Amino acid sequence: MNKFEEIVSLCKRRGFVYPSSEIYGGLANVYDYGPLGVELLKNIRELWWSEFVRKSPNTVGIESQIFMHPDVWKASGHVDGFSDPLVEDKVTHKRYRADHLIEDWLTKNKKDKIDLDSLTTEELSEFIKTNNIKSPDKNELTQAKNFNLMFETDLGTIEGEKSKLYLRAETAQGMYVLFKNILDSTRLKVPFGVAQQGKAFRNEITKGKFIFRTLEFEQMEIQYFIREENWKEEFESWRKKQEHWYYETLGIDKSLLQWKPHTKLVFYAKAAEDMQYKFDWGFDEVGGLHYRTDYDLSTHTKHSGQDLSYTDPNTNEKFLPHVIESTWGLNRAFFMVLDNAYTVEETRVVLKLNKKLAPNKIAVFPLVSNKEQITKKAEEVFNMLAEKYTTYWDDRGNIGKRYKYQDEVGTPYCVTIDYDTLESNYVTIRDRDSMKQEKVLIQDLDSYFQANL
Ligand code: GAP
Repeated sequence: MNKFEEIVSLCKRRGFVYPSSEIYGGLANVYDYGPLGVELLKNIRELWWSEFVRKSPNTVGIESQIFMHPDVWKASGHVDGFSDPLVEDKVTHKRYRADHLIEDWLTKNKKDKIDLDSLTTEELSEFIKTNNIKSPDKNELTQAKNFNLMFETDLGTIEGEKSKLYLRAETAQGMYVLFKNILDSTRLKVPFGVAQQGKAFRNEITKGKFIFRTLEFEQMEIQYFIREENWKEEFESWRKKQEHWYYETLGIDKSLLQWKPHTKLVFYAKAAEDMQYKFDWGFDEVGGLHYRTDYDLSTHTKHSGQDLSYTDPNTNEKFLPHVIESTWGLNRAFFMVLDNAYTVEETRVVLKLNKKLAPNKIAVFPLVSNKEQITKKAEEVFNMLAEKYTTYWDDRGNIGKRYKYQDEVGTPYCVTIDYDTLESNYVTIRDRDSMKQEKVLIQDLDSYFQANL
């Protein structure tokens, strides 16, 4: 098994991520999060909210809904312009991303990488034809065509255009559409940020990279409203803020991250860079930094007929703010964090997660499960710690196996209550990374963990 397969296996075995609806054969590109996965997702979300919303005096959070007026997506350009180039196998009629097939062909034939993002659908088709690239089932392929990524659904039973709704393809639009409400209800002054975390949906045809590219995923985004003339310095300032998040908060190894400027800009951006992480298959996007100009506010002004401009409270100058967007994919952050933490040592597999991210902070073990006094004491310790920390109870099997399990899921500390505890009130704390053990009094546990977690 390569590292990627080992992580996918660990995720399922230990309850981070399960394939969706597995008992019915699964659903491609949809995954569910298990008991540990849900904690890790929560920890990432909460750290992000704390760093970018709570600790920022000029950023507010919102929660707009997945469904919005369908005109939002026409105005934003998604209905007409949000698409991927697809080709179809002429025999099986299975569809593939043209750029992905070319990428696979280049790797297989040991050719240099080319910048596929900058090629048009015609150029992609030409490349496939010239190099005689076939489908994975070895059949001829059709010309590449653009395939819209928006999921559509119908509202109620009325048929026709008016009842069509879209599942949002990015959380960003909610922040633009609420711009006037936010201005009218807060005391914010430009520059200021609006942040939100939430689900987005894209009808992706993918080639199976686990949770990297899924139909349903979660974004964490900030639209930072600025004066046009400041865009370059704000762009650079957000680059630094993003780097702090990746390097310091998530604790990702710097050498595994890189900025990659876009060569072909999406319809709304004037400057854009991806933050890429070095996954098993190479560097790939985990987030982005975009200068979206006043594209969104101006298109929503035009389509809604509402004035979305801002008036400077000091000078009365009226203008449409420009936007620096920072975007993060929560599920990709989750995957990156696991990949970065996954460590194979001589005697064990251990997730060396940043302690703040660890799903369980402490595991409590009564040494044996058939001694009432030990169990009772261990329960007291568990109850005390669970008030403050995510604490896991395990009284199954020998201590070695319990350590092994907690190492694999990244629990920073294990606390064992044994016969000696009954006499002395000392428990044994075992450190995940060093595997060192030390004795600590029960009454000192809280200060110990306050200092270390
Ligand atoms: N509002 C800007 C925007 O949506 P994007 O680059 O299309 O930009 C932002 O998406 C982030 O969302 C990506 O960097 C990625 O982390 C995440 N993302 C996009 N599509 C995804 C998918 N199908 N599955 C998982 N994450 C995805």
